[in-house]
Amino acid sequence: MCGIVGYVGPREATPVLVEGLSRLEYRGYDSAGVAVLNGGVQTRKLAGRITRLRGLLAEAPVHGSCGIGHTRWATHGAPTERNAHPHSDCGGTLALVHNGIIENADVLRTRLERAGHRFVTETDTETLAHLIEESAGETLEERVIAALDHVEGTYGIAVVSQTDPGKIVVARRGSPVLLGVGDGEFLVASDASAVLAHTRSVVYLNDGDVAVVTRAGYRVLDRHAQEQDRAVDDIEWDLDAIALGGYPHFMLKEICEQAETVRSTLRGRLLAGEGTARLNGLNLTPAQCSRIRRIVIVACGTSWHAGLVGRHILEELSEIPVSVEYASEYRYRRELRIPGTLTIAISQSGETADTLEALRAAKAAGSTVIGLVNVVGSTIAREADGGIYLHAGPEIGVASTKAFTAQVVALLLLGLWLGRQRGLSVDEGRVMVTELLGLPDLVARALQVESQVRALAERHADARNALYLGRGVNFPVALEGALKLKEISYIHAEGYPAAEMKHGPIALIDENMPVVCLAPKDSVYPKVVSNMQEVKARGGRIIAITSEGNGDLGRLVDHQIAVPASSPLLAPVLTVIPLQLLAYHIAVLRGCDVDRPRNLAKSVTVE
Ligand code: G6P
Repeated sequence: MCGIVGYVGPREATPVLVEGLSRLEYRGYDSAGVAVLNGGVQTRKLAGRITRLRGLLAEAPVHGSCGIGHTRWATHGAPTERNAHPHSDCGGTLALVHNGIIENADVLRTRLERAGHRFVTETDTETLAHLIEESAGETLEERVIAALDHVEGTYGIAVVSQTDPGKIVVARRGSPVLLGVGDGEFLVASDASAVLAHTRSVVYLNDGDVAVVTRAGYRVLDRHAQEQDRAVDDIEWDLDAIALGGYPHFMLKEICEQAETVRSTLRGRLLAGEGTARLNGLNLTPAQCSRIRRIVIVACGTSWHAGLVGRHILEELSEIPVSVEYASEYRYRRELRIPGTLTIAISQSGETADTLEALRAAKAAGSTVIGLVNVVGSTIAREADGGIYLHAGPEIGVASTKAFTAQVVALLLLGLWLGRQRGLSVDEGRVMVTELLGLPDLVARALQVESQVRALAERHADARNALYLGRGVNFPVALEGALKLKEISYIHAEGYPAAEMKHGPIALIDENMPVVCLAPKDSVYPKVVSNMQEVKARGGRIIAITSEGNGDLGRLVDHQIAVPASSPLLAPVLTVIPLQLLAYHIAVLRGCDVDRPRNLAKSVTVE
């Protein structure tokens, strides 16, 4: 979603800001802008892409060495130039960028308008600029702290003012902001990728922090202006990880990286002799582990699908009952204080607002909470009691791919570890370790289906609807395949449990309906074959994702794509690959902007 960048140092700010904003493009946005201090506040903004902002700045340059920038994903008010950030006060003395939502914006606006403030945008953010203008205080930070006292909702903000030249004031509550610590210069960003071209040293701010950043250094304050200590962390990856590296799209790059990312999630975590996993970050003692009576998984989107796969894995290996909840629904349900609950928050970004709030609700209800998170230092990673980092490297494509397979692998590791604590034998554990060690090579082989999938995409690129069917651990893969297709190709697609199809979707099947059936060899394979026969009988066009050694399905299906055979619990990591590739190639053939699908955001930091 929205992105923030700030710069203060010896250099011209604008090129640094624009470069930082371009690194945040992947998050999804519809307008962009910068403001630089130069005696007064100089702002340039527009509706549209960063390339257009570059053009605007070439025509009307702004000079100065302290400034802020923003990419906006519209929530309050249409994506217009006027509503684009930075926003200003009546006097035009300050500029402010904001991620998040000010929930009491209407009340504040009415009050401020009565006090004589003139609003020029429809945004909730503008209330913050007027509130700061209204607030008393000698310094900008004092005024920001005073203003934020009146605010309900979530924010990550960066503010500059001509009354405090050479200074950026930053604050966060519920929306991430970090400081980039350079050599004689400092950056501000909502995401580490925006500062990486300049520094690897970052300070992740906590909720409630206010930071004052100048060329001379930075200070972190609490809301009573008391100074706080915050550690400086190192970003683990480099710019190559966020470059296309010869691929036409990040999504394809990330699909093709999966043999390596699966290996990376597993690295150093398998103990062959003991037949278990080493997961030190979980922070769960054997005693705590033996007290677990149920597991609740909370997540959104693709991560929720990984959670559904996780239910099968964890129940199978640990025999602990698992429920999987949409985080957005869970957070508003009555909290059940059930002793022995382990809550698992799954989130690639570690910043999804609903997943974070679900985690907090679970904690408040007394549950131990662990996070399965990709982004190191993210809010969910820091607020959880422990967790497993995915180590999949930055995921830039909005449609999640390598994070999904990494999440399933992390769940397999967790299942193995929990299972071994609760009755899975050493021998069974060793078998699983051997299978997991072989998984990256199977992923590499599964990726070899790409040319077949591309040919298939050509036949189906005109489809208006598609149905994805699966059973057991592959039902969530059907959901994920359908989600991928609709996210990036805008074809309506539904995932369904294969047998449940008879209770409704079967009415939709005709010769124009591609039906993708997940049919790897497992205990429900004969049942899936029966379901495919039901589709065939209604004239549906069947695309079967089978596994090698399954035999020829040619008499039943229109197309078949075989991934390597694996034990059933590992299969989703392989069966999802042709579905990711199918969505990708269909979207490319339809001319869609694969890495920046309309209306979607990489990380949904508002409810
Ligand atoms: C957005 C993204 C999805 C992602 C979901 C959850 O909708 O577009 O790709 O699966 O958020 O994100 P998370 O970072 O919590 O996994």
